[in-house]
Amino acid sequence: ENRWSGDFIHVSHTDAKVGLIELDRPKALNALCDGLMLEVAKALDEFDADKSIGAVIITGRGRAFAAGADIKEMLPLNYAQVAGGDFLAHWGRVSKNTKPVLAAVNGFAFGGGCELAMMCDIMYASDKAVFGQPEIKLGTIPGAGGTQRLTRAVGKSLAMEMCLSGEPIKADQALVAGLVSKVVPGDQLLDEAHKTAAKIAEMSQLTTAICKEAVNVAFESTLAEGVRFERRMFHATFGTEDRREGMSAFAEKRKANFKDC
Ligand code: CAA
Repeated sequence: ENRWSGDFIHVSHTDAKVGLIELDRPKALNALCDGLMLEVAKALDEFDADKSIGAVIITGRGRAFAAGADIKEMLPLNYAQVAGGDFLAHWGRVSKNTKPVLAAVNGFAFGGGCELAMMCDIMYASDKAVFGQPEIKLGTIPGAGGTQRLTRAVGKSLAMEMCLSGEPIKADQALVAGLVSKVVPGDQLLDEAHKTAAKIAEMSQLTTAICKEAVNVAFESTLAEGVRFERRMFHATFGTEDRREGMSAFAEKRKANFKDC
C-alpha cells in the first residue's frame, strides 16, 4: 500500500509489516542529491517510529540502485563549504536505523549508491547489479563510508583495487567477495528481498534491534569486547516478555506471538 511519494522516492508498506523505499530519480540514475537523502531519512524516521513495521527494504527503480552522490550538486563546492557543513554527515542516518534494513540492489550501485547499500544490514543483488567506488576518477575519494565498509566487507586487496582504479565489480563477484548475500534474476529481486524482510518482521522488534546492534559491534570492537557485549545483550533479552514467549512457543510446539515488549 502506498504511503507517500516525494520528489525523489516512493514510500509504501506491505501487509507483512515490511516498509519499502524506492528511489526514483530516473533522469539522474537515482543520484543521491540532498533532497533525495532527506526524503530517505524522513521515510526511515517514520518506519522506525511505526510499530506496524518490522523491517525495511531500500531499492531503486529503473537501471540504477543509485549512481552515487550528485556530481553536479558537488561540482561548485569548495573545501570550506564541505568541511564547514560536514557535507554528507547526515547520510549516516541510514546506518543508525533501529529496524533491520535490506538493500535490494537492482542495477548500478556506484559511489554513494554502493555506500548507501553498505549502510544497510543485508544486501541482495539482481544479476544485473554492478558495484563500484569510482570517486577516484573524479579526483576525490569515497565520502560516505566506502573506504571503510567496503574494506570490512570484501577485504583489503579488492577494496583497494576498486577504490584506487575506480573499476566496478559485477554481482557474481560481489557474491563471492561477501559484499552481498544473495544474487537473483532481476525480476525476482523484490520478491526475494520481501520474503526475507517479512521473516524478520515476524520476530520481536525488541530482539531484532538488540541482535543487529550486537552484529554491528563486531565491526567496532575487539573480539573479546564484542563477545562480552553480546553476552550482556543476550542476558538482557531475558528481561523481555518476548524471550519467554519465544521459548514457551517452542516448548508448546506452536508459533510464537511476539508483542515487542
Ligand atoms: N550525479 C549526477 N548525475 C548523474 C550521476 C551522478 N552521480 N550519475 C549519472 N548521472 C546522470 C548523467 O549525468 C546523465 O544525465 P544527462 O542525461 O542529463 O546527461 C544521466 O544520469 C544518465 O547517465 P549516463 O548518460 O552517464 O548513463 P550511462 O548509462 O552512459 O552510464 C553510469 C551510467 C556508468 C552509472 C554513469 O552515469 C556514471 O559513471 N555515473 C557517475 C558514477 C559516479 O562517479 N559515482 C560517484 C559519485 S561521487 C560520490 O558518490 C561521492 C561519495 O562517496 C558519496
